[in-house]
Amino acid sequence: MIITIDGPAAAGKGTLAAALADKYKLAYFDTGMVYRAVGVEMIENSRDVSDEAAAADLARKLTFQKMMKLSEHPEFRGPLGGKNASVVSSYPSVRAALLKMQRDFAQSPVFKDGSPARGVVYDGRDTGTVVCPSADIKLFVTASPEVRAERRFKEFREKGIDISYENVLADIKSRDERDSQRASAPLKPAPDAVIIDTSALFANDVMEKVCRIIEAKIKKSLEK
Ligand code: DC
Repeated sequence: MIITIDGPAAAGKGTLAAALADKYKLAYFDTGMVYRAVGVEMIENSRDVSDEAAAADLARKLTFQKMMKLSEHPEFRGPLGGKNASVVSSYPSVRAALLKMQRDFAQSPVFKDGSPARGVVYDGRDTGTVVCPSADIKLFVTASPEVRAERRFKEFREKGIDISYENVLADIKSRDERDSQRASAPLKPAPDAVIIDTSALFANDVMEKVCRIIEAKIKKSLEK
């Protein structure tokens, strides 16, 4: 089974994806990590993020193992890592170089310990439209920019990252614009995606709603 969850930053995709992977015993691929890895490697190599050729070169050389190593970098989940990821993800050459690695995972999905899984939950921006257009279930999870900024602000505060709510909101809005305006694979729901607005929902309400959708879909496919 392949489930794709796309949507803007801090909409609740990660929480939902991890809960679904756990419940249905599926592997989980957070595809934002491939762009964060390139963004962080640009910092490590003292490259300016505007250098598309350097970013594409790093993207072509990225492996799963290297991505996991780069995920330990202090900026990987920080504001600079997020900004760099958003910039490098707007380069068509970077997206093209990172596509195969993301697609290949569906052919032989594995859990964190390396053991094989029978399917995968993808989380990203274009996983239902570009990475896995033949996915069994496609979700597009969204929420208002203010609600998302509030959630991200809380996350940063819990991690001890000193940033104001206003700056987080401004960053969310500029990332939304960059993610939805880029020429290559812009952020948009797949035509067959179920759209879920989480602005007024708790994580467990979202999970319940999605499980009902998945179970109805499984039941329908068994009846065929
Ligand atoms: O989900 P995230 O915040 O970790 O993603 C980091 C950046 O990567 C985000 O600004 C958009 C980009 N991204 C993308 O373009 N396509 C994906 N499938 C996943 C993330």
